[in-house]
Amino acid sequence: MSQAEQETVLSYINELKQKYNGDTLHFLQVLQAIQEKFHIVSPFALQEAAIAFSIHPSEAESVASFYSFLETKQKKGKYIIRLCNTISCDLKGKERIARQLSTELGINFGETTKDTLFSLEKCHCLGMCDQGPALLINNLLIPKVKPSDIPVLIEKCRNNSIAENSSSIISNVIVRGPLLDENFKPGEVLKPLINLEPTELLSIIDHTDLRGRGGAGFPTALKWKMAYGSVSDIKYVVCNADEGEPGTFKDRYILHKNCHRVIEGMTIAALCIGSSKGFIYLRGEYSYLKPIIESVISERNSENLLGKNILGKTGFSFDIEIRMGAGAYVCGEESALIESLEGKRGEPRNRPPYPVDTGYNDKPTIVNNVETFLDIALIFEKGAEFFKKYGTSKSTGTKFFSISGDCSREGIYELPFGITIKELLKKVGAENIKAVQIGGAAGICIPEKEFANTIAYEAIPTGGSIILFKQDRDMLKVAINFMEFFADESCGQCTPCREGNIKLLEGLRMLEKGECSSSHLNSLIELGKTMQLASKCGLGQ
Ligand code: FES
Repeated sequence: MSQAEQETVLSYINELKQKYNGDTLHFLQVLQAIQEKFHIVSPFALQEAAIAFSIHPSEAESVASFYSFLETKQKKGKYIIRLCNTISCDLKGKERIARQLSTELGINFGETTKDTLFSLEKCHCLGMCDQGPALLINNLLIPKVKPSDIPVLIEKCRNNSIAENSSSIISNVIVRGPLLDENFKPGEVLKPLINLEPTELLSIIDHTDLRGRGGAGFPTALKWKMAYGSVSDIKYVVCNADEGEPGTFKDRYILHKNCHRVIEGMTIAALCIGSSKGFIYLRGEYSYLKPIIESVISERNSENLLGKNILGKTGFSFDIEIRMGAGAYVCGEESALIESLEGKRGEPRNRPPYPVDTGYNDKPTIVNNVETFLDIALIFEKGAEFFKKYGTSKSTGTKFFSISGDCSREGIYELPFGITIKELLKKVGAENIKAVQIGGAAGICIPEKEFANTIAYEAIPTGGSIILFKQDRDMLKVAINFMEFFADESCGQCTPCREGNIKLLEGLRMLEKGECSSSHLNSLIELGKTMQLASKCGLGQ
C-alpha cells in the first residue's frame, strides 16, 4: 500500500472515530464502512481501526475474520456476485447458473477477476427460496435467474447500468390472514394505549398466550415482564431481522410491506418494558430494505410516533437504529446477535445471565422476531379475544409459513397454528411428496407416514420455513447440502460443533460414494448424539 493510500485510509478511520466517538460498540459498523469504501479491510486498516477504537489488534482481527461480508486478505471486486447454494435454489438448478457465471467471468467461486471488477462467491439462503435460483449482486437481489440472464447482468455491471433496487422481486403472498389486513393506519393502535400502565399492557399480552415467532416459542409476556422488572437507567428493544434459516423469507416481505406495523409493535414493547432505544438488526443480505425502513422511521419521527415525548406523553421517548449484519447465520441466535450489536464476533453467550437482565451493553434487553412485533400490533388493534380465535389452545394466533420446494404454489401463507401437514400440502398444490423439512436446516424432516401431524408448538414447532421434497429427490444430497451449511456457519467457539459438523459432512460424502462402513455410520450417529448434548447453542445441537 502506497503512502498516499495509507493516508486516505487513516483519514477515513479518523472520520469514523469522530462519527462514533471512538466507542467500541460501533466497531463492526466501522469495519463494514471500511469494507464498503475500500473493498477490503486490509491489515493496515485493521491495525489503525483497532488503535482508533482502543481494541487489542488480535481482537480486531478476530472480529474481522468472523463475518463473511468482511474480506481481510484479498480485495473484493467492485461487484460481488453471490449465488445461493442452499437447498431450495439447489432444487431449482443453481448448478447451471454456477457454471454459467464461472464461464462468463473466467474465474472460479472464491476468486476475483484480474481487473477487480467482479468477485464470485457462493452464499447461503438469500431469503428468495420461492423464487430461486437467486443471486445477490452487491445489494441487488435477483430472483429466478436463468443461464441466459448471466451475460446480460454482467454487461450491465460493466456499463454501470445495474439498478440497485428490488423491482424484480415479487411479494408472492398466497394466503392472507388478519396480520396482513391492508387497512392499518400508522399510530392508530398506539394512540389509545399511550397512557395505559405497562402492567395493564403486559397482562393483555399474557392473556393471549403469544409465543415468540422466531422458532423457540418462548412466552412473550413472560420475557417482557422480566425486562419490565429489571431496574436500569436504560433498556433496549431489539427486532431480530436476521432471517437466515434456509427456507424462510417471510420477514423480508413483512419488513418491505408492513414495516409501520412492525415498528408500532416495537414501540408498544418499549412502552411495556420502559425502553428508550430500539435496534433493528437486519441481515446484510437484505440491504435493499434499509432505505425502506429508514424512510418509515423518519416518517414516524415526523408524526411524533417515534422520538421524544411520543404522542405528547411526557417522558416516553423511543428511537430506533438500524444495524446491519455481515453474513453470519449464528447471529440469528439472540445472544450472538447482541454480541454482534456490540461490535464483536457473533458468538452465543453462556446463559444465565439472560438478556432480559444483562443484554446489550449489559443492560436489560428484549430480542424478538419481526413477526412477533406484528402480532403485538394486531393484539392491541383487534383485542386479545380476536387473536385467540386463531390457532390451538397452546399455540394461539396465526403463523407465516414460507413454502418452497416441490409444489405448484410456493410463497408466503398466513395460516392458523394447528394445521396438519397433509392439509398444508393440499393448500400449496403439492403432490407425491415423500418428505417435508420443517423449521429450516436446523428443523426436522417429516416422512410421509407422519403427515397427519399438526404444526404447532405442542406438536411440530417451526419458525416458518417449510421445504417440500417429492418422491424422486435424493435425500442424501439434501442432507449433504444442510451439512455444508452447518459446517460453514458454525462459529467455531465450541469443539463439538466446530469439529463435529465437519466430521458429519465428511461421513455423508463417504456414504454418497459408497465408502462409509456401517460401523463408521454408527460412530457418526453417536457423534450426532454427543453434539446434541455438548454443543453450546442451537446450531450444533
Ligand atoms: Fe436460495 Fe433460500 S434463497 S434457498
